[in-house]
Amino acid sequence: MRQPLVAGNWKMNGTRESAQLLIKGIINGMAGVTRAEVVVCPPFVYLELVGAALQGTQIPLGAQNVSKEEMGAFTGEIAAPMLKDVGCQYVIVGHSERRTLYGEGDQLVAEKYARARKEGLTPILCVGELLEEREAGTTEEVVARQLDAVIDLAGVASLAESVVAYEPVWAIGTGRTATPQQAQDVHAFIRQRIAAQSKEAAEQVRILYGGSVNAKNAAELLRMPDIDGGLIGGASLKAADFLTICQAAN
Ligand code: PGA
Repeated sequence: MRQPLVAGNWKMNGTRESAQLLIKGIINGMAGVTRAEVVVCPPFVYLELVGAALQGTQIPLGAQNVSKEEMGAFTGEIAAPMLKDVGCQYVIVGHSERRTLYGEGDQLVAEKYARARKEGLTPILCVGELLEEREAGTTEEVVARQLDAVIDLAGVASLAESVVAYEPVWAIGTGRTATPQQAQDVHAFIRQRIAAQSKEAAEQVRILYGGSVNAKNAAELLRMPDIDGGLIGGASLKAADFLTICQAAN
């Protein structure tokens, strides 16, 4: 059985004070969440602050991005060993905002994924199609291309210990969620594509859905057989909403 996973992607939001309040609210509401794993991904500069609050809890810390380089003269970048050093266990790679706003391509994302793994971080690999790609009927082609870049570089077996997040770009931050069936179809496609090369990896990889998941729609999405959890943006900034989603996953 795959352990359900809910990851909160705080994106570029918050202050020291609000980050502290949010993490306290989440920790205080976790009592009933015994089965699902819950991860929080604050902005880099608040990782240590949030990490300190997480001491003694079951909640792992995650980052939102990582450099493909190990260390060195890369101004403004953050290295995987630094993330390890401040207590991260997870890192999001290839989020659509990175792909579309910062020009990250499949190859770079695959290199980030490989770097994260090399340093002992669990990557949360984001894949997903643009609205025009869905309308053109190329969703599977796009997702396959994004996934294959990672499989080619890091090997299919690596996915057994990694997380994939399917996030249709048209559903992110738009309030327009994929229907449970639309999401399930792509999740099943991703799992089948992995299974064609490794049944074991396909069975073990956790595939999260992301894109306007909220306290109201989480349960019906998470009920689908190939949806193992959620990557939550906007709703992860409100402790009560995030906890409702965690409970649904649980
Ligand atoms: P959203 O973001 O929940 O605000 O749509 C999801 C994400 O970008 O990971």
